[in-house]
Amino acid sequence: MKTKVSIVKEFEIGKVEDTLFSSFIEQLGRAVYNGIYEPGHPQSDEQGFRKDVIQLVKDLRVKLIRYPGGNFLSGYNWKDAIGPRDKRPTRLDRAWHTIETNEIGIDEFYDWTQKTGTEILGAVNMGTGTPQDAADLIEYTNFEKGTYWSDLRRANGHEKPYNIKTWCIGNEMDGPWQICHLDADEYGKKALETIKLLKWTDDSIKCVVCGSASSEMPTYPSWDRTVLEHTYDYADYISIHRYFENFNNDDDFLASFADMDNFIKTAAATCDYVKAVKRSKKTMMLSFDEWNIWYQQNQKPHPWHKAPRLLEDQYSLLDALAFGGMCITLLRHVDRVKVSCLAQLVNVIAPIFTEPGKGSFKQTIYYPYQDMSLYGRGTSLTPVCRTENKITKYGDVPAVIFAAILSEDESELTVFALNTSKTEISETEIDLRSFEKSEMFYRTELTGTDLNAKNSLEKPDAVKPQSAQLIQSDDAVYHIPLKPVSWNVMRFKLVQK
Ligand code: AHR
Repeated sequence: MKTKVSIVKEFEIGKVEDTLFSSFIEQLGRAVYNGIYEPGHPQSDEQGFRKDVIQLVKDLRVKLIRYPGGNFLSGYNWKDAIGPRDKRPTRLDRAWHTIETNEIGIDEFYDWTQKTGTEILGAVNMGTGTPQDAADLIEYTNFEKGTYWSDLRRANGHEKPYNIKTWCIGNEMDGPWQICHLDADEYGKKALETIKLLKWTDDSIKCVVCGSASSEMPTYPSWDRTVLEHTYDYADYISIHRYFENFNNDDDFLASFADMDNFIKTAAATCDYVKAVKRSKKTMMLSFDEWNIWYQQNQKPHPWHKAPRLLEDQYSLLDALAFGGMCITLLRHVDRVKVSCLAQLVNVIAPIFTEPGKGSFKQTIYYPYQDMSLYGRGTSLTPVCRTENKITKYGDVPAVIFAAILSEDESELTVFALNTSKTEISETEIDLRSFEKSEMFYRTELTGTDLNAKNSLEKPDAVKPQSAQLIQSDDAVYHIPLKPVSWNVMRFKLVQK
């Protein structure tokens, strides 16, 4: 298969925000208990946080961590999980049929984010929670001192406020599975009144209203329209969520990026419709604050337990490739997607996996995420591409896709490429003639013959990217064979015209 792609410096999509490289930890399964937190583990620190996990998170350069949920959020009372641990109540988490001991709350989680170099993307309960509970939380986390909640935070050991800058106003409130699910009008009104209270507590914060939990929701996109009609002037982002699963058609699965691409475009169009109705000058941005591969078919009923093994998907090479396609789609929509959270981060549908009392390892999806996070920062450019199309359930989609990122100082260009063909090498011409001089200095590929290969504690390196041959060119047109089913990272040093 022949593929041609031109990358031109002037074809800018937009600046990549650091918040594009965000993630999510829900008080769910073993994400927190026996995930990030395991007191008594040989690698745990004085607070019980696993240092091996901290290092794996740091190596991903994650910016924001959405916390504490997720579906968990809609039945959660944050006040249960502050103050002396022996006084904290044990509760039923009805979202995940789990016993919640409240050993970890906002204070401990803040400490963990300090250790991982991340920041909290906060979330307030719009299910059982009231606007007052939400405002109390912002007062607790962001107000300096001299009030009931800010002084309580100080009494609980944190003199300085946490200054959590961005807040999700509930989670997936369009979903009938959500505790105290609302209809779009009810949620829109409650979200508006909550945002007002929060911003009147701290006018520097930004708020994310709940958009659709998936492009497949029957209420999509009218839910989003109605919510924005209520909240447009006060909200800063609307969220969208999307999980993909392989239903035994690898070609459709590898084309998941096309569905994600369409979802972003239609969500942005919905925002722009409301913008027009409101004659607003503001453009609403998207927070894609849950995305990943999730084998929801594997979920089974389970008894009440603390930290049960839930949503512990083990990812294959094929999953990592489909996931790479999503990374490319996000990078190609940075003009509208300002926040994106890989859901989730540890044990629960996660790139990092731990075993209690034992080690940890990187799942296959760790690698494309890390590539995107380390080398995807700067300005996203539109790659102009000609290649073969494949027919999938999402329509005709290109067999090979690209994203191109010019580093902030314009000294480097990174090209990400996914070849989804199972049989054909993509004989790819990458045309960099718009840059005066270029030189490839780094090239890796993630590929293999066994698409089902997975990493494990025993075989942590079964699937990982390998260095590939550097290819140079005298005329700035690079001829690069991209292997069948491969995720590729190519980096070039540049001299500008
Ligand atoms: O990430 C797992 C779950 O997926 C979250 O709790 C919920 O928001 C979504 O449906």
